[in-house]
Parts: sequence; C-alpha cells; structure tokens
Amino acid sequence: MISVKNLSKIYEPDGFIAVNHIDFEIPTGSIACIIGTSGCGKTTTLKMLNRLVEPSTGEIRVNNELAITYDPVEWRRKIGYVIQKAGLLPHMTVRENITLLSRILKRDKKHIVEKSNELLNMIGMDPNTFADRYPIELSGGQQQRVGIARALMEDPPILLMDEPFGALDPITRNSMHEELMYMNEKLHKTIVIVTHDMEEAFKLGNQVMLMNKGEIIQMGNEKDFKENPKNQFVEDFVSGQLG
Ligand SMILES: Nc1ncnc2c1ncn2[C@@H]1O[C@H](COP(=O)(O)OP(=O)(O)O)[C@@H](O)[C@H]1O
Ligand SMILES: [Mg+2]
Repeated sequence: MISVKNLSKIYEPDGFIAVNHIDFEIPTGSIACIIGTSGCGKTTTLKMLNRLVEPSTGEIRVNNELAITYDPVEWRRKIGYVIQKAGLLPHMTVRENITLLSRILKRDKKHIVEKSNELLNMIGMDPNTFADRYPIELSGGQQQRVGIARALMEDPPILLMDEPFGALDPITRNSMHEELMYMNEKLHKTIVIVTHDMEEAFKLGNQVMLMNKGEIIQMGNEKDFKENPKNQFVEDFVSGQLG
C-alpha cells in the first residue's frame, strides 16, 4: 500500500505551488493512473514518491514505512521508474542501459544476461537484434520500451511510469497495455502511471486520479467519473475536451 498524506511541493525560489496538499492511497498490487492537463503536477507527484523531488509538506509511506526515514538511494531500490522520453544513456547500448543498476549492484553475470534477454523478449525486441544497439539506432517507441525494461530489471515491487506509452503506435501501445496488466496480475506489482489519455487511464487504472493546478479534483473508477463527475472540469475532461 502506498499512502500519501497532505503532500505538497512548493518550488523555490519563486514559490510556485506545483502540488497542493493531496492525499491518496494505492493498494498493493493495483494500478493507479494520474491524469491531468500539462503542468498540473503529475510528474512532480511521481517524483516525490521516489524522492527525486523532496516534498515541502506531508508524508509518504509504503507498507507503513515512512519514506523520509530512508536514505533516498535506498528508498529508490524498491521503486522502478520509467521517465518521460525514456531517458536512456546515449553512450551505452540497449543491454548496458537495461543492466546498469544490476551491474553496479554486482549481480551474478549469468543472471544479468538471462534477465535482460527475458525483458527484451517481453518488450518485443529480439536480444540478438537489439541488445548491442545504441539508443540513437532505435525509434522513439523502442527507446520507451527499453526504458520500461530497465525499470523492471531489479524486479521492484513498485513501478512508476511517466507517460510511458506516449510515443508508441496504437498496436504496440495495446500490446504494452496487455503486458502491463499481465505483469500487474501475475507479479502483483503496484503501478502508478501518468498519462494524458483518459481512455488509457480508464482501461489500465483500478483507480484514476484527475489533477488540476496541483490538486486532485476527483478520484475513482470509470463509472464514478462518468456517472458522478464532481464538476464541470471533470465533465469536460471525461468528454475529451481537455487533456
Ligand atoms: N524544478 C522546478 N522548478 C520550478 N518549477 C517547476 C519545476 N518542475 C516543475 N515545475 C513547475 O511545476 C508545475 C508542475 O510541473 P509537472 O509536475 O512537471 O507537471 P506535469 O507533469 O503535470 O506536466 C509546472 O508549472 C512546472 O512549470
Ligand atoms: Mg510531466
């Protein structure tokens, strides 16, 4: 269970309130989607969960353990992170990118090769063809998929994904959706996905959180949003006029 209470982020020096006193809980093994217009605080919220951004107020717990009591690097070990635009290191091959953390942690060499092959197959990229390529030799969608494989290499119980399916064509996106739901079901990973796309949020999320100007406007499932939209903003968003 991820539990967030009274969480805010005020960016210095201008004092801009990017996230404004939000609360939510995400049960272990479920998928939550954070959605909202550009600049509403989605990425900031995600980055506070893994302490790449330190909160200005509030607290974050995972299974009742308080984030702030951990060393940030230690805290991030249990949280896989797929960043916007993949963020691969350009001077490293696909396999080197995927296995970087495992190599730093000195995992067994045979395990590293086998696990990275398994992940490459999972994302639909044959290791024989792709393992030794550099990021520049991949399409945007392939880079994004490598970013997902990298986040899974150390098998974290929690996976944070920032617009991970943005650059994918509809067919690849669909198969990545299936793979993600399979992973969630079979491996009981707790997954938090930031997306722009309400349809994607309803499809993947057990729980959808709609943000605007740093606040969570409404939280629930597709039925809640469609049958009981909290206000005009929610209605507009659900009907696809915003986002
Ligand atoms: N490091 C920063 N310093 C100051 N302002 C920031 C910083 N990062 C983000 N912001 C601002 O905080 C707001 C929320 O940003 P972000 O969380 O990235 O939004 P989203 O992911 O929803 O598009 C934006 O207005 C953005 O300009
Ligand atoms: Mg963002």
